[in-house]
Amino acid sequence: MYGLKGLYFIVAFIVVIQTATANPNKQKAPITVTDGNWTNVLEGEWMLEFMAPWCPACKSFTETWREFATWGHDLDISVGVIDVTENPGLSGRFLVTSLPTLYHVKNSEFRRYTGARKTTDLISVIDEKKWADIEPVSWYRDPKSIQMGVLGSFFKAAMFIRGVYSTMTDVYGIPEWLCYVIFAVLTILVGLILGLMLVVCCDNFFPAKYIPLPPERLAHKPSDDREDDTDIIDDTADGQKPSGETESIPEAKENAPVNPQSDESDLRKRQPQSAD
Ligand SMILES: *[C@@H]1O[C@H](CO)[C@@H](O)[C@H](O)[C@H]1NC(C)=O
Repeated sequence: MYGLKGLYFIVAFIVVIQTATANPNKQKAPITVTDGNWTNVLEGEWMLEFMAPWCPACKSFTETWREFATWGHDLDISVGVIDVTENPGLSGRFLVTSLPTLYHVKNSEFRRYTGARKTTDLISVIDEKKWADIEPVSWYRDPKSIQMGVLGSFFKAAMFIRGVYSTMTDVYGIPEWLCYVIFAVLTILVGLILGLMLVVCCDNFFPAKYIPLPPERLAHKPSDDREDDTDIIDDTADGQKPSGETESIPEAKENAPVNPQSDESDLRKRQPQSAD
């Protein structure tokens, strides 16, 4: 009898321990989603809230969202929350224009939920699959897409510049007008540098190998073709005649600076020739 009581006690103890350890698995608070780990929402079913600490409507909605999150386990979804002030990349990707914004995510399809916002409403969205009535966001606004990623980067850059601006004014006490002058100069400099890089890149990828002939040559080209060839042969023959094959290279070097002049003299010589 005493042993059986002990067994009951042990079983009860195990059950208590199990429920205690099982509870943490149950979602209690909304999961923070960040710029760095947002791709996790592409797996499973999610409800996301975009909020900001300064937004009054978000503050009054916080309690509802927290309550809804406790239902996440039973509804078999994850409930996430995104602070747009800390994750500007995501507010760009999802093109968040009002706060709080709610999104439903399933099978990498994103639906913006604009319906009623009481906890019971939110539960029925999932439980009765009301989300299926909402049109998913179109391909060009898909948060996974490259263009929305680029937009996210712009939002990040804008946030960064705003951070720099407030540091300049608040921490270093730089007057506003000077900040604008500095940003204007920086903008022009960045433009110049980008332009220079573009020119250098073009030069590297499309080098200007072809140098057009001077107009006199072009004019005589059809009739001069044959004579040009003979001229070239003559030049090399002059260089190679007195010396052997191995010594022709230094001689060619010596001839090199004279070449443009000799070309011109060739031209002058050739004109009477062609007239003959
Ligand atoms: C994303 O990261 C934050 C903190 O870095 C963490 O608290 C959160 O659980 C992560 N979210 C996901 C969906 O992994």
